[in-house]
Amino acid sequence: MSINTHLQEIIGRYDPNLPLDHASTIPSSWYTDKDFYELELRTVFARSWQLAGRLDQVSQPGQYVTSDIAGEPVVIVRGNDGVLRGFFNVCRHHAAAVMIEPEGKAAQLRCPYHGWTYSLEGELKGTPDFSGVCNFDRASNGLAPLEMVEWENWIFVDLDQSHRSSLTDFLGDDLVQEIKTLQLGDLHWFERRHYSFDCNWKVFVDNYLDGGYHVPYLHKGLDSVLDYSNYMIENGRHHCLQWSPIVTEGAEAQTGAVRKGDRALYYWIYPNFMINWYDGVMDTNLVVPRGVDQTEVIFDFYFPDVVSDEARQKNHASVEVGQRIQDEDVAICKSVQRGLNSRAYNAGRLSVRREAGEHLFHRLLHADVRHG
Ligand code: FES
Ligand SMILES: [Fe+2]
Repeated sequence: MSINTHLQEIIGRYDPNLPLDHASTIPSSWYTDKDFYELELRTVFARSWQLAGRLDQVSQPGQYVTSDIAGEPVVIVRGNDGVLRGFFNVCRHHAAAVMIEPEGKAAQLRCPYHGWTYSLEGELKGTPDFSGVCNFDRASNGLAPLEMVEWENWIFVDLDQSHRSSLTDFLGDDLVQEIKTLQLGDLHWFERRHYSFDCNWKVFVDNYLDGGYHVPYLHKGLDSVLDYSNYMIENGRHHCLQWSPIVTEGAEAQTGAVRKGDRALYYWIYPNFMINWYDGVMDTNLVVPRGVDQTEVIFDFYFPDVVSDEARQKNHASVEVGQRIQDEDVAICKSVQRGLNSRAYNAGRLSVRREAGEHLFHRLLHADVRHG
């Protein structure tokens, strides 16, 4: 069977037209097949708006941030003219990554391999030992530019330049307005943590989108502050908002101390970005596929005060609660991935009360991979 027929056969196993009360999950092969994984990198990750950095990382000229999107190296840099630009972080000489640190500040961009240099605006400047090379047009050998956009505290890029819609069109006016009311600009980045999960990236997303279904069983601390029976799930076109009132009575001490306010908001934006907000505190999750059964999740924690000692102590306590919740999810995600590989499992049904977000996720995914 050719790869294409094989993929078509796998894609055809999911019916996106069934309503939630008749629907099943996407089939297990979507989580375990290497060709399907490669297809997703091309059709989902290379063709959607992907988080490439935070604005606080690149506030000054010369500051840059690198990332890896769908396997491709990307760099965002603020020029001497104050303009933020995105480039493929690929040297025009022999393709090495030009900037290799996750972030930093530089006067120019120098490739570590043979020393070619580029200006902060991406033009090729220095080419050691390169005289006598015929028909070499320096002007057309700058870093390849990349479409990028700023939204709230972040920078997003789109590898596929022939993109279907702008980021704000993709998100939709309602979501853009809703997020605006949270005044995220008042929050400051505090800490980043990386978590590795032994599962396909979609296992993590499914787990996030299960409408609180797993919370009473896996996260006792978190469960003590959420109002499980009033947990709401609202689907948008390309996002899902899950929210829960916060209860203070009977809250487990460690969690209750740092999860306050009226409600917790959990926004998932297709395909792999989450914004979690409670009472002026936020963390974001970026789900990065690292292989068919390997996923890195990057957490950024934000707080209103990241300077005073007293606030920093509280912030640390809050991050630790987040850490505990992730640790609780690591084992279950691994267990799910193993089960997805079992010959006894193909697909499962969805809870109508809880799992509408997963249903949306699976249908959006189907649309993307099918077009690919
Ligand atoms: S690959 Fe960058 S200078 Fe040779
Ligand atoms: Fe969880």
